[in-house]
Amino acid sequence: MAPRSPILNLMVRAAQRAARGLKRDFGEIEQLQVSRKGPADFVSTADLHAEKVLREELTKARPEFGLLGEEGSLREPDATGRRWIIDPLDGTTNFLHGLPHFAVSIGLEQRGTLVAGVVYDPVKDELFCAERGGGAFLNDRRLRVSGRSRLDEALIGTGMPFKGHGDVELYLKELGWILPEVAGLRRNGAAALDLAYVAAGRFDGFWERGLKSWDVAAGVLLVREAGGYVSAVDGRDFTLEGGDVLASNGELHDRLSALLRGRGKG
Ligand code: IPD
Ligand code: CA
Ligand code: CA
Repeated sequence: MAPRSPILNLMVRAAQRAARGLKRDFGEIEQLQVSRKGPADFVSTADLHAEKVLREELTKARPEFGLLGEEGSLREPDATGRRWIIDPLDGTTNFLHGLPHFAVSIGLEQRGTLVAGVVYDPVKDELFCAERGGGAFLNDRRLRVSGRSRLDEALIGTGMPFKGHGDVELYLKELGWILPEVAGLRRNGAAALDLAYVAAGRFDGFWERGLKSWDVAAGVLLVREAGGYVSAVDGRDFTLEGGDVLASNGELHDRLSALLRGRGKG
C-alpha cells in the first residue's frame, strides 16, 4: 500500500490504543459498570475510557484541531478549520451483549469536507482507513466497492429503529419495499462497520436514518474512496448533520433510493 501520511498514522495509532482497552473490557464484560444514558442507549466505562484515550492521543499531537466526540468531547477548530469526529465505541449494544462486532471510528473533517477516516475492529483485527484522494484500505489491501449491478443479487446492510430512536412505521414501509427485491438484508449493529463493509464490497449497499456525525464521518469517506456513492436516503446530497445515509457501490444507488421511497421495483 501507499505509505500512510503522518496524520493517518496518528489516527491509526490512536484507534489501536483505544481499541486495546476496549478489547480488554470486552473480555471482562460482566464486570463492567454500566449506567443508562437513555432508553436502550447505554454508556459504559469502556466508551468513556476509549474516548479519553482518543482525546489524549489526538490532542497531544494536534492541539489546534477541533474535536467532537460522542461521549462529550467538544473543542472548536482553530483557523485551519480541522476537526476530529470520534465514536470511541460504535456498536455499544453488541459490546454489552458480548457480540464481537464493534469498532473505534475517527474521522477528520476540514471545513465541512471529510479528509481522513479510520475504522478499527479490534476483534477481527481489521483496520479500514482512507484519505481523500488516496483510496481506501483494509489492512494493506486496497478496497473497491462491489461490482454487483443486480438488485436480486445484492446484500444490503441496514440500521433499524430501537426503543426511543427512529420512526418504526416508516422503517416497516421501507422493509416492505426493499425486502422482496434484494438477496438479503443484514442488521449488524455498528454503522461505522456497515459503511466500511460497503467500501470492502461485502455489502452492496447500506441505509440508516437518524445517525450522528460520529457514526458516519470515517465510514462515508471509506465508501467514497473505494469508488462508492453516498447520499441521503431520498437521493439528496449527504450531509454530516442530516442523519440519513444511503451508501452503495454506485451502480445500485438510484434503484435503492427509489425503492426506499416506495417507487416501484428496481
Ligand atoms: C449505534 C450503532 C448502530 C446504529 C445506531 C448507533 P453506538 O452507535 O452504530 O448500528 O443503529 O443508530 O447509535 O451507540 O453503538 O455508538
Ligand atoms: Ca455510534
Ligand atoms: Ca458510540
